Amino acid sequence: EGEPAVITTAMCHGCGTCVAECPADAITQMHFTDAQIFAQIRAALEEIPEEKILGFLCNWCSYAGSDLAGTSRFEYPPTSRAIRVMCSGRVDRDFVLEAFRQGAGMVLVAGCHLPYDCHYIRGNYKMKARMEALAGMLQKLGLSPERLRIEYVSAAEGVKFADLIKEMTEQMKTLGKEKIVAENKKLYPILDRMLSRKGI
Ligand code: FES
Repeated sequence: EGEPAVITTAMCHGCGTCVAECPADAITQMHFTDAQIFAQIRAALEEIPEEKILGFLCNWCSYAGSDLAGTSRFEYPPTSRAIRVMCSGRVDRDFVLEAFRQGAGMVLVAGCHLPYDCHYIRGNYKMKARMEALAGMLQKLGLSPERLRIEYVSAAEGVKFADLIKEMTEQMKTLGKEKIVAENKKLYPILDRMLSRKGI
């Protein structure tokens, strides 16, 4: 009591789920700080963001799945940009909000398959609960539901990753640039307010 919380480093498995969950942003994860990931989001969306799919992919499954798609030379449109996190549980709500504030066309959050594949046991469940709640809120604010996608891709599913990006690119085309830009414009002041506490 009266003392700040302390992480016992030797017991930390390094998923980063607590960092994303902490409502006071009081925890940081080495090499995956909010500032580092925000910088990656902004760099990935620097040019024509409304035509990009920004993917947050967990290291052990979905990022490896995207890598397999590449090394297997499966073709898919060059619309996606990947940001690697150790576990999908690290994907903070604020990362998704920042992506849309920067004008992203679509956001993909992908992790290991439910129920047992997460290398940190339950990070994917934490991500699912957090992202489903966020998706509901964003839809109420006017975001088209297909613009935030939650998926599960294993390290062996290069084909699934390539097909997913193809499908999302088609959905993005169907929605149309004008609609995406109009939605982003409407959302901007709300997201800006929500993110103002970050100071990043
Ligand atoms: Fe992939 Fe946790 S390590 S979702």
